[in-house]
Amino acid sequence: VGTYDLVVVSNRLPVDKVTRPDGSVEWRTSPGGLVTALEPVMKQADGAWVGWAGVADDESEPFEHDDISIVPVTLSAADIEEYYEGFSNDTLWPLYHDVIAPPTYHREWWESYVRVNQRFAEKAASVTATDGTVWVQDYQLQLVPKILRELRPDLTIGFFNHIPFPAYGIFSQLPWRAQIIEGLLGADLIGFQRAADAGNFTRAVRRLLSFTTKGTAIDVPIDEEISEAIEPARVSTSRRGSLVRTVHARHFPISIDTQSFEDLARRPDIQARAKEIRAGLGNPKVVMLGVDRLDYTKGIGHRLKAFGELLADGAVTVEDVTLVQVASPSRERVAAYQQLRDEVELTVGRINGDYSSISHTAISYLHQGYPREEMVALYLASDVMLVTALRDGMNLVAKEYVASRFDDDGVLVLSEFAGAADELKSALLVNPHDIDGLKESILEAIQMTKSERTKRMRALRKRVRDYDVSRWSTAFLSTLTDPSGTPSYVA
Ligand code: G6P
Repeated sequence: VGTYDLVVVSNRLPVDKVTRPDGSVEWRTSPGGLVTALEPVMKQADGAWVGWAGVADDESEPFEHDDISIVPVTLSAADIEEYYEGFSNDTLWPLYHDVIAPPTYHREWWESYVRVNQRFAEKAASVTATDGTVWVQDYQLQLVPKILRELRPDLTIGFFNHIPFPAYGIFSQLPWRAQIIEGLLGADLIGFQRAADAGNFTRAVRRLLSFTTKGTAIDVPIDEEISEAIEPARVSTSRRGSLVRTVHARHFPISIDTQSFEDLARRPDIQARAKEIRAGLGNPKVVMLGVDRLDYTKGIGHRLKAFGELLADGAVTVEDVTLVQVASPSRERVAAYQQLRDEVELTVGRINGDYSSISHTAISYLHQGYPREEMVALYLASDVMLVTALRDGMNLVAKEYVASRFDDDGVLVLSEFAGAADELKSALLVNPHDIDGLKESILEAIQMTKSERTKRMRALRKRVRDYDVSRWSTAFLSTLTDPSGTPSYVA
């Protein structure tokens, strides 16, 4: 392995290792918004991607995949249980999503999180060139910036949090809250999805460590010895006369490779597939669509409840309106996810039993992941897209839907609790907890006139075209290099 000027580190690699029944190995695209966003960025850049291959004890050597240099990190079955399923997804995930599910605090999980973060940091340190840049991703790796700075003071270190950062009243539950903040402050730039997330983080810094902050700049005290290894522009003297390293915490709403979705949507075979999907559903007047990882943050239950009540009220009938719900399998060994699956499947079964007819199904429920082409065909086939997350860092599915609708048609119903709501203001914004309000918005979407749909979709498309993922990564990386150069990325 050589060394690279730009190294991205995330828990999951863009590809998961899948061993087929005959023993042969296939590398398959990983789930989730992080990979969707970063994959096109890394194809452009001549960098390396450090991460986990999605299975226990994988010892694969570094390799090239689709023009990306992949550097695998090994996780044992115990690491997966304690660091990944445990601390990352049963402690931090529910805590950072406003405790929609109760977080579990286990000291063994924390110890595993520390050990595994150390391992990721060491791997990144070993593949990054002198004075290079490391861009650490997401909540699974919040200690990596600090560890990495100690190992390699020559590096420029960025961190981006893909999920929300909670208000202090929630964050302060975490027994290891100060260590997490100190871990993140090892970075030069800490990026968040929304301005509110960056504000929550800065407040946590003030409350827990009493460091001085000014706007988005945070003064981290350092001693003389360390200051010599740091770029002079990043070091200054505080009002109290001590040496400080300035760290910036700002928001950079993430996006998608907009053009690639539009290109797929314009393909005749994909348009033909969209027609086929509608025909397969019995050519109803209105096709509604939900696309989510099967996760309790996504508000799938709220969506089903609203649709079920609309059917019960007689406001809609299965002959006219059908719902396709793609719920891709996720974190299936974590209890909260198993429970959610049971609840969703019970609800879908009940609604279908009560309201479907022989020829028309109320809800087509698909517990599967699909290739990008099939997703775009589904987006084109759907009149109404329902994104009803109770809390979501961004929600790239909302942006994918918009990017695919080159015909300027289709209605996006979008939760105000998804980061995307800050940008996609021409969507029908909803509070998913308000079931009556949600039902009204669904009816409004179904009944919306063509001219209103076009007007809204045009405005949405402009936003997603203007702010695509390459603009996001350029904004982040140039702010990382020169924090004074770009005051604000988003309007
Ligand atoms: C979200 C997180 C990502 C994560 C993805 C899929 O998008 O922000 O960090 O990779 O979900 O979840 P998983 O646990 O399967 O990696």
